[in-house]
Amino acid sequence: MASRADARRIVVGVTGASGTPLAARCLRMLREIDGIEVHLVASEAARTTAAYEFDGPFEDLTALADVCHDDAALDAPIASGTFETGGMIVVPCSMKTAAGIASGYSDSLLLRAADVTVKEGRRLVLVAREAPLSVIHLQNLTRLASLPGVSICPPVLSYYHRPESLEDMERHIVAKALQQLGVDVEGFARWGEAS
Ligand SMILES: Cc1cc2nc3c(=O)[nH]c(=O)nc-3n(C[C@H](O)[C@H](O)[C@H](O)COP(=O)(O)O)c2cc1C
Repeated sequence: MASRADARRIVVGVTGASGTPLAARCLRMLREIDGIEVHLVASEAARTTAAYEFDGPFEDLTALADVCHDDAALDAPIASGTFETGGMIVVPCSMKTAAGIASGYSDSLLLRAADVTVKEGRRLVLVAREAPLSVIHLQNLTRLASLPGVSICPPVLSYYHRPESLEDMERHIVAKALQQLGVDVEGFARWGEAS
């Protein structure tokens, strides 16, 4: 798919944590917003998990992005800080990927793009998913949360917005994560504002 000239670029990383439908929801919601060019990179494990959690071929998910990069393509534009972006969201984010980002171990494009996002001081949002969380997971996430621009935004349930469907719940989780990237989603129920 061709990239949209003059659009604000957002990098979306998808890993093998449970939550492929959240990745698809995020990509669909970003498509609804004018002026955003989405660069997608998915890990190999993301494809494995998608086989259990996503209806249809993985290509249906990658087709939701403007540009889809191979995770092995360490020479892709998003591997360099000179390629300007408005930040990156990893949805869902596995504990392995969280560990990789926390330690600066960038042996895949997804990890390198996250590393670049951190080193350039851009916003990085991690929809980190595991249960229960071990001390190792928590230490890695704490390390990441202490970095400027990094938000840990786990896909936790909320009820105050009165969700009536799984889609309502997913939209709220993703909208909250995108809010951390500075991306406003129409219809997002903000506390204290009439919906
Ligand atoms: C169906 C399924 C669900 C999984 N859910 C999680 C999860 O919620 N969190 C997690 O950290 N790993 C989960 N994993 C394990 C990761 O896929 C595995 O650690 C993988 O190496 C992550 O690699 P990646 O970070 O490069 O995508 C799951 C695996 C499968 C097959």
